Amino acid sequence: MKPLRNLRLEDIDLSDIEFWTAPIEEREGAFATLREEDPVRFFEERIPEGIPIPKGPGYWAVTRHAHILEASRNPEVFCSGKGATSVIDLPAEMNEFFGGMINMDDPRHGKQRRIISRGFTPRSLGRVEADIDRRAAAIVDRVIEKGECDFVTEIAAPLPLEIICDMMGIPESQSEFVFERSNRILGLGDPDYNPIGENPIAAAMTSGAELAALMREMADARRKKPTDDMTSALIHATGDEDVLTDAELASFFVLLVVAGNETTRNAISHGMKALHDHPDQRRIWAADFEGVAETAVEEIVRWASPVIYMRRTATRDTTLGDKTIRAGDKLALWYASANRDEDVFERPFDFDVRRTPNEHVGFGGPGPHFCLGANLARREIRVMFRQIFERLPDLEITGEPERLASNFVHGIKRMPCQFTPGRRAA
Ligand code: HEM
Repeated sequence: MKPLRNLRLEDIDLSDIEFWTAPIEEREGAFATLREEDPVRFFEERIPEGIPIPKGPGYWAVTRHAHILEASRNPEVFCSGKGATSVIDLPAEMNEFFGGMINMDDPRHGKQRRIISRGFTPRSLGRVEADIDRRAAAIVDRVIEKGECDFVTEIAAPLPLEIICDMMGIPESQSEFVFERSNRILGLGDPDYNPIGENPIAAAMTSGAELAALMREMADARRKKPTDDMTSALIHATGDEDVLTDAELASFFVLLVVAGNETTRNAISHGMKALHDHPDQRRIWAADFEGVAETAVEEIVRWASPVIYMRRTATRDTTLGDKTIRAGDKLALWYASANRDEDVFERPFDFDVRRTPNEHVGFGGPGPHFCLGANLARREIRVMFRQIFERLPDLEITGEPERLASNFVHGIKRMPCQFTPGRRAA
């Protein structure tokens, strides 16, 4: 892919939704210009049509890898707990369901992260591994005889969702409900998920409340009768461990559904598109799947950059690059831009399944908020591609991906594919 440098610095407006629906080459070109000419640049905010909240004071766009690392390593100065991790502040009433630990600072963040980490130990993940293999095989079983399907909704999306449901102990009958509600929350600006005219904040609030209610019901049931799942582990303590309150459990669940679902789905979808567009790389991986898998998975996450940015807020006056940042200023850390930074990556616009080193920030920068699900996501991506390479080896993408209109989630909504029909394994 070749970035298109058709916008001058003054013409770049990261707050314009049209910027995010323009061809990807144009977007990449604009970020290259920002990195080169003004790597910490101030932008006005724009409130998307139909969202009834006041316009904020603007934000600094941080586009270089080195500055993103600097901000991530200094959470006391660049914090997560003020306003939101999106440029637009969350209305106070939304914090009830969306104020999970991603929006917290120490000591609250550390306390919650310690409790929740109990669900992500190598031992807990070991238990999930067999589920990942079984679920991925079943997903391919469901499409293999058809010879064609929608890659996103039928192959990439089900795995992360089913795994989160397995981990939390959510019955299969509820997974469609969880899927639909998480789409509504993350597709905030996209008319496919939130019809024009409907207040998207209200729709997201309703979805958050519905997911929280499901969690409360499950917590109640487990208080009466503990089970062998993460929900039970987070509300029952052993020894002097802390537990999550019902409200914390609910917002954690909303965070998990939102953070763990779409991200992994989009990594798998972008990964498949990249392999389709780079047959040489596909051949390299196919020739030695296990040998190449580790670097290929990292490259897929770098390439996809499913989380485009996360916001921080300055807690005091400081500097970043050549800019003076005032206490209270917002900063958008553009992880997607850092993942193409020419100072860090050789040939950043090449998709290279053997790329080493690969210091991408797809899972966030080094700091307290580094993705808690990174190892789980890596595993899911690897297992899904193993299934594809083994059982759908000639899978081709047959139409242009339909992109999500969002500056936050690098999403693909639909992407048709074809393959030689095969036989179900089970
Ligand atoms: C390819 C897939 C994924 C990507 C690209 C991704 C990306 C990220 C990023 C960029 C952050 C950092 C947020 C920040 O800077 O403030 C993050 C945090 C987080 N992620 Fe992931 N994620 C993925 C998969 C998952 C999965 C599968 C789970 C769990 C099932 C998960 C759970 C979390 C949680 C709980 C946090 C918050 C950590 C904290 O604030 O301490 N993620 N993720």
